[in-house]
Amino acid sequence: MRRVVFLAGSAAVVAGAALVVGRSRGAASAGVPGVLPGAVGAWVNAYLDRRLHAAVAGLVDLQPDDDLLDVACGAGYFLTESASHAGRVAGVDLSEARVELARRRLADRICAGTAEIRQGDAGALPWEDARFSAVTCTDAFPFFPDPERAMAEMCRVLRPGGRAVIDVNPRIPEGTESHLMRGPGGQFRVWNDADVRRMTEAAGFVDVSINHVLGTDSRLLNSLSRRLYGTDEETVAMAVKPVPVRPDKEAARAEETVAVG
Ligand SMILES: C[S@@+](CC[C@H](N)C(=O)[O-])C[C@H]1O[C@@H](n2cnc3c(N)ncnc32)[C@H](O)[C@@H]1O
Repeated sequence: MRRVVFLAGSAAVVAGAALVVGRSRGAASAGVPGVLPGAVGAWVNAYLDRRLHAAVAGLVDLQPDDDLLDVACGAGYFLTESASHAGRVAGVDLSEARVELARRRLADRICAGTAEIRQGDAGALPWEDARFSAVTCTDAFPFFPDPERAMAEMCRVLRPGGRAVIDVNPRIPEGTESHLMRGPGGQFRVWNDADVRRMTEAAGFVDVSINHVLGTDSRLLNSLSRRLYGTDEETVAMAVKPVPVRPDKEAARAEETVAVG
């Protein structure tokens, strides 16, 4: 019995410490914010983010003909667990160690030519314009040094009509100004819903919807999160890259308007 209590207590301490370090925006390893060291750290990050990954997967609703980019993909858990049915997947991460782990996790797909993982910064995505049909980003946005630029980059690499689902930050209460938040690992910026919408539109997106989803499915971790950040929910923006209106269609529309007028 004592052993069971000891094991349960140890598990709770490890889970709590993981939440504090893993989901603490600004926690850093080897100079890259948000990285818990090693394969175990990557697993802990992904384990804590399972619920969030499921919510983002539900919103992006990947199809077999999708070509997905996961920005700040970490060790590639979202790509293997939530996006295995997408025709092509790609991931980018700043951490060399995480890129290595992601390449190992996706080795079969990389060999088959349906996946690729690159090392790079969210603020300068190493792909050409209009390359992907969908973009996701989970538990990373507040780490980016220039989040507005990262969002504009996500829009740039999407095809017209492509969709983005971006976990922006812990939800902040309605009526609260966007502000700097202090986590155990340092300061990070959080935006209120109106500013998330403005930032997403300024990046070039349309049809923006703001969603609130639970960060984890553990009651213990969610209550710890409420104590640390005042919330257990994440603000997730979903948006579409506009399809340019063809000049001939625009002219036809203008003529119709004149005729009706
Ligand atoms: C907490 S982990 C989340 C990983 C993964 N998205 C997930 O949900 O499991 C944060 C990730 O952001 C990455 N990261 C931090 N700053 C970055 C940047 N400027 N560009 C690309 N990746 C970055 C880190 O290397 C790390 O893998």
